[in-house]
Amino acid sequence: MAATFEQLIDPFGRHIEDLRISVTDRCNFRCTYCMPEEGMQWLKRSDVMSFEEIERLARIFVERYGVKGIRLTGGEPTVRAHLPVLVSKLSKLVGPDGPVNLAMTTNGATMRLVADSLKQAGLKRVNISLDTLDRTKFHQMTRRDELNNVLDGIRAAQEVGFDPVKINAVIERGTNDDELIDLATFGREQNVEVRFIEFMPLDAEGHWMNGKVVGQEEIVEKINAVYPVEVLPARGAAPADRFRFLDGGLHGEGSPGSMIGVIPTITKPFCGDCDRVRLTAEGDFRTCLFATKEFDLLTALRSGESDDQIADRIEAAVATKWAGHQINQVNFTRPSKSMSQLGG
Ligand code: 5AD
Ligand code: SF4
Repeated sequence: MAATFEQLIDPFGRHIEDLRISVTDRCNFRCTYCMPEEGMQWLKRSDVMSFEEIERLARIFVERYGVKGIRLTGGEPTVRAHLPVLVSKLSKLVGPDGPVNLAMTTNGATMRLVADSLKQAGLKRVNISLDTLDRTKFHQMTRRDELNNVLDGIRAAQEVGFDPVKINAVIERGTNDDELIDLATFGREQNVEVRFIEFMPLDAEGHWMNGKVVGQEEIVEKINAVYPVEVLPARGAAPADRFRFLDGGLHGEGSPGSMIGVIPTITKPFCGDCDRVRLTAEGDFRTCLFATKEFDLLTALRSGESDDQIADRIEAAVATKWAGHQINQVNFTRPSKSMSQLGG
């Protein structure tokens, strides 16, 4: 199998090597930058990919196209029942460079309960969302009073040996931009890599505006004033720019807490290096978060198409991958879906 693999290359010469799979559109949080408080229309169970269907599609990406990394997302992936069963199926997929690197993005609220079984099933890495260390603000931003469970979930993820554990912090001006230093301190002390994410126009309620974006330059400047940092060399298609603390952090040079990341989607788009594609929970294939077109692979699969036929659909879709998103340009069209429906 591995001997016959092809590469998925888009019209701009980018090799597709990373697949994000949303395993559910549901979530136990209601982060304001993602979902409305009420009124989300959930997918019907029967419209959501089964584990077997996810495995079949993922196998094509890994075994045929040499996709190296799979990240499970949601909604919140851990609300999907029996998630470790899926993880153990996917962790067995082997591409030309070896076993797939399997990661997950989670809000961490139930991590204490699931970390061990996910690790045993073969999950390698987790990113946990944590935008604030203030309980009241946490409740405001996620509409759930779960800060302590998330903090405990982060510890649980470290205890079972996910390495590195990364923290995703979406920064919104006027909401949590006064916590840049506190979050950096948290990363240093707890030995996690905090990644500061520029707020993107993917909130279901449409309250995003340019003025609410805190840009990379400002984030780095403010942190540098307290903890001097220097930029680290870029790592291929990784979306985050990374910076190391000049003092090496508190847990040693190269440890997760010795660096921070910034994901500058808005102020410094990294689309030119993007190697990512996505599958929504209902099996639609998307070549960009901001794409306006989706390719329905699940219906094709359920109608009995062969792997070759599905692969043709994947190649046709990748041929439409854009050079980059158009945020801040006149022809930008906001996706009609929110982050929870697209998969982080
Ligand atoms: N802008 C930036 N990041 C977002 N996320 C969700 N909504 C947005 C948004 N509007 C991120 C969260 C989460 C991941 C799944 O997506 O940080 O960690
Ligand atoms: Fe849920 Fe993640 Fe969206 Fe927050 S950002 S509501 S945790 S899917």
